[in-house]
Amino acid sequence: MQVAENVLLRPYNTFGIAAQARFFAPFATLQQLQELLEDARWKAVSRMILGGGSNILFTRDFNGLLLKNELKGITVVGEDTEYVYVKAGAGENWHQFVQYCIANNYAGLENLSLIPGNVGASPMQNIGAYGVEIKDYFFGLEAWHLHDHTLVTFNNADCAFGYRESVFKRKYKGQFAILSVTYRLRKQPQFNTTYGAIEQELQHMGIKELSIQAISQAVINIRRSKLPDPAQIGNAGSFFKNPTISGEQFAAVKQAHPDIVAYPAANGQYKLAAGWLIEQCGWKGFRRGDAGVHARQALVLVNYGDASGKEIFDLSQEVLDSVHEKFGVQLEREVNIV
Ligand code: FAD
Ligand code: EPU
Repeated sequence: MQVAENVLLRPYNTFGIAAQARFFAPFATLQQLQELLEDARWKAVSRMILGGGSNILFTRDFNGLLLKNELKGITVVGEDTEYVYVKAGAGENWHQFVQYCIANNYAGLENLSLIPGNVGASPMQNIGAYGVEIKDYFFGLEAWHLHDHTLVTFNNADCAFGYRESVFKRKYKGQFAILSVTYRLRKQPQFNTTYGAIEQELQHMGIKELSIQAISQAVINIRRSKLPDPAQIGNAGSFFKNPTISGEQFAAVKQAHPDIVAYPAANGQYKLAAGWLIEQCGWKGFRRGDAGVHARQALVLVNYGDASGKEIFDLSQEVLDSVHEKFGVQLEREVNIV
């Protein structure tokens, strides 16, 4: 197996941070992964799986073995009257996988078009956008235990999906390499246009007959208008989660800030638009050196070129502190910090 040393990670993370990995190896088969894990030379060092690097902030060099997942392949593994079961290798690009499903009229993932990264990371934080989360269509996954060297399967309930959450971010953090994910997709689409901006965009596009292709294109158009393209400006999407607070706390914050943007959530709670909170603290468009807060979407921290991971992290702490001071609301980072 080819293991490179002192590899510059700038091309491997969408923040464009110039950290290094002490050791770096791609793997395209389970056998290659097993060989890497069992090789005595790397046994003592820490190991981490990397996908498309679009939800990670390197605040330091990674002093272990970084394993770049390149497992490919998309296969239909089953079907019944209502559903098609599609299995994709963890190293497949997410958006290309979504496009493959749309082209074959397998419905469900169209609202999740254009999310960067790979299939293998999609269950990590139960990726979501425009009214859909992967948990709505996730069927199961296969993962390799990095220490026990066993193959483990997870069904939907096993993953304990929540808003930007799963067991892989919590209880099993760093323990598994996800090898493949199977989605259960509809033969007859159930269109989801609950997210207001989609309806507006469909009208603007002049769509007369709704289709999964049209929804996908509407989502792509909205995303392109709002979110910075990592090829132009380094970023990892939303840096923080939208916080959920109790009805009581919401009533108090709303009294002090009547314009607050919020959505009713389960159990009488409210989810707040973190982008609004951050904008109200004056951060939108802020720049210090090459670290900044995006000018069109305050929830996205950006690297204009040569910011270090630490500079981005420190800025995120200032943002977090100021939101807490002004609103008494604690933000939580969504991006994985290394
Ligand atoms: P990476 O960044 O490579 O990894 C993320 C984490 O998962 C790391 O901890 C890594 O160790 C682990 N990991 C990755 N692959 C595996 C594997 N196979 N096995 C085990 N662990 C693994 N997210 C959303 O939910 N909704 C959005 O709308 C959205 N929009 C975005 C827009 C932009 C412009 C950007 C840059 C990001 C956005 N994101 C969004 C975040 C990101 O795209 C997703 O979290 C994506 O799933 C990350 O995939 P990745 O392959 O790049 O993961
Ligand atoms: N807003 C502001 N100022 C801003 C940004 C947002 O006031 O600078 C307010 C606006 O009122 C806006 C509302 O916040 O209407 C919501 O903004 P937006 O529709 O852009 O969505 P978001 O809540 O900021 C979430 C996800 C995104 C996902 C979109 C669409 C999180 C943390 N973020 O963003 O996911 O694409 O909804 O569903 O839940 C990601 O996870 O990386 C990500 C980009």
